[in-house]
Amino acid sequence: MKNKIKILSILFALMLIFTACGENSNSVDKNSLEGIKAKEKIVLGTSADYPPMEWIIFEGSTENYVGVDIEIAKVIAKDLGVELEISNRDFGGLLTALNAGDIDMVLAGMVKDEERAKEVDFSNAYYDGGQVVLVRDEDVEKYKTPDDLIDKKIGTQLGTTQQKYAEEHFGKNITSMDSNMNLVMDLKNRSLDMLFMSELAAMQFASINEDLEVIKMDEIPGEGEWCVAVKKGNQELLDEINKTIEKLLESKQIDKWFDEYIELSKDQLE
Ligand code: ARG
Repeated sequence: MKNKIKILSILFALMLIFTACGENSNSVDKNSLEGIKAKEKIVLGTSADYPPMEWIIFEGSTENYVGVDIEIAKVIAKDLGVELEISNRDFGGLLTALNAGDIDMVLAGMVKDEERAKEVDFSNAYYDGGQVVLVRDEDVEKYKTPDDLIDKKIGTQLGTTQQKYAEEHFGKNITSMDSNMNLVMDLKNRSLDMLFMSELAAMQFASINEDLEVIKMDEIPGEGEWCVAVKKGNQELLDEINKTIEKLLESKQIDKWFDEYIELSKDQLE
């Protein structure tokens, strides 16, 4: 009897040790604050086709990611004491990648809207965006009100607030693509009549391309607030990100980056 109890207690102790070990290796979510600190890096998901927020400057064969979102992400990483890794993806796939744990946060000039907020959590806002129409400059007089856009060949980026708005308001003739760069090319080569885009990016494309111009219509509302997205429930990380954003807004550093990167993308992308 005594022996039996001994063996049982040894088995029980072993069981405890095994479960504890198992828990140690599995219990830390790699996308949580603790997980990020453990792996000593934070992975930013972005879609680098959106100046002045994020785009790529090529130096020989190296790709350098630049823009306001990239600067904000760098400070978030620095404040957490970890490296920043950048994962460039199609805008439409960012939230899926976040939920799959492939990236830790998204900065992509992304609007916090109701639908997205069901899927992921958002930080406090760092910008409030407008939306406009980008056309070839010879067409600028043709379009005065949103009614003039109905059933025109309108291009939008896939998965954006603009795609949704255009589909709801401008008829059936909407073409959505992954990359803003390709949309701009198709506008210039006349496959599309116009692009419906965030104001800041459209202004950049217009200043880079002499033959393009922005039309702003009072009837079209703003797109909403740009925020950082993290996996749902990742509150500790979100608290840290909010601290960084608050600091950067307070010191007006974000405004300074806007000025700087609006200028830089004019020079670099021309
Ligand atoms: N602001 C728009 C949205 O939230 C478009 C963002 C596109 N961003 C990009 N990096 N391409 O849907």
